[in-house]
Amino acid sequence: MPYDILTLRRFLLQEYRTHGVEKDLVFLLEDIATACREISFATRNGAFSGQLGATDSTNVQGETQKQLDVFANDQFISHIRNCSRVVALVSEELDEVIWLKRTATAGDYIVYFDPLDGSSNLDVNLSVGSIFSIAHLPGRVQVGDDKALLRAGTDQVCAGYSIYGPATSLVITLGNGVHEFANHLGTGEFRVVSANMHVPEDSNEFAINCSRYADWDTPVRTYVEECIAGTEGPRGKRFNMRWTGSMVVDIHRILTRGGVFLYPDDRDNRDKGGKLRLMYEANPMGFLIEQAGGLASTGRGRILEIPPTSVHQRASVILGSKNEVERIEAHYRDFDAAGGIEAEKKAAEAEAS
Ligand code: AHG
Ligand code: MN
Ligand code: MN
Repeated sequence: MPYDILTLRRFLLQEYRTHGVEKDLVFLLEDIATACREISFATRNGAFSGQLGATDSTNVQGETQKQLDVFANDQFISHIRNCSRVVALVSEELDEVIWLKRTATAGDYIVYFDPLDGSSNLDVNLSVGSIFSIAHLPGRVQVGDDKALLRAGTDQVCAGYSIYGPATSLVITLGNGVHEFANHLGTGEFRVVSANMHVPEDSNEFAINCSRYADWDTPVRTYVEECIAGTEGPRGKRFNMRWTGSMVVDIHRILTRGGVFLYPDDRDNRDKGGKLRLMYEANPMGFLIEQAGGLASTGRGRILEIPPTSVHQRASVILGSKNEVERIEAHYRDFDAAGGIEAEKKAAEAEAS
């Protein structure tokens, strides 16, 4: 048994030999794994290093930054810089794109990342994570031309996250399945603990922030109401609900045992396009979920096919077990066929008058 340890390096070299994964991508992923180990240590030790708590600054999303948001962002940047093929970085914590090269060449890597996801969990000692997505620059472009970084989710060559829970894991896809590596504390190595993760097609667990019920659109309400109706309702079975406040943690659970995660656009967040960010939350998680046999939808279409218009844009997000996501999409279709929000508004006005 000790002779058969599949480390991240051995796994990546196998991918290089069997699937033609580029050597530079292998090095880049090893650098990202190092950044994740640094962040994992800092989240555990924060109380002693004075790294817990808020800063007095806000990020591009208008959210107060935690000290560890800033630290995690610095770790990603300084480790990713080691790879000379990375042309540009897009971070949740930075308004501006960082261009790393003087000349941009076709095939260079763009890295999009959410350095610390679920950071409000830090105050209460709950799990957090980091999310990343990697795409190729399609052609030779002018350095500083941010439009060149607006790659659709279907262009991703790699996506992954690290979860800082009781154990630290790294979960990645290079387009050939989804694999989980746990961090071995003695050696610092990431070792495969779950190869070819699979999201079961059916599930009886959903994840949504129910405090937003009043703002949800009818398709989302209908789906959740059907679930909570239990054995007497149209689903004829009981459902369980989980909401951790960290997308990484909820998606990790779904990749492990199935379920559906919803952060849809609703009456309150529609002007902004939703809550979660397309390039470094929805797209990488969508790629992982699809690679594991699940679906990633806005309710009305495939997340990975959204044409991006801005590096920090938001999206409606519904991810998880295939049959559950298809059921929610069917509710959206029925709603739209009946005239959607406009028809509902008119009916409410007619009733009031
Ligand atoms: P971040 O900490 O990177 O800003 O992301 C938080 C996100 C996501 O991880 C989570 O699912 C969601 O926001 C939680 O939102 P609510 O606070 O509305 O539940
Ligand atoms: Mn996040
Ligand atoms: Mn974040």
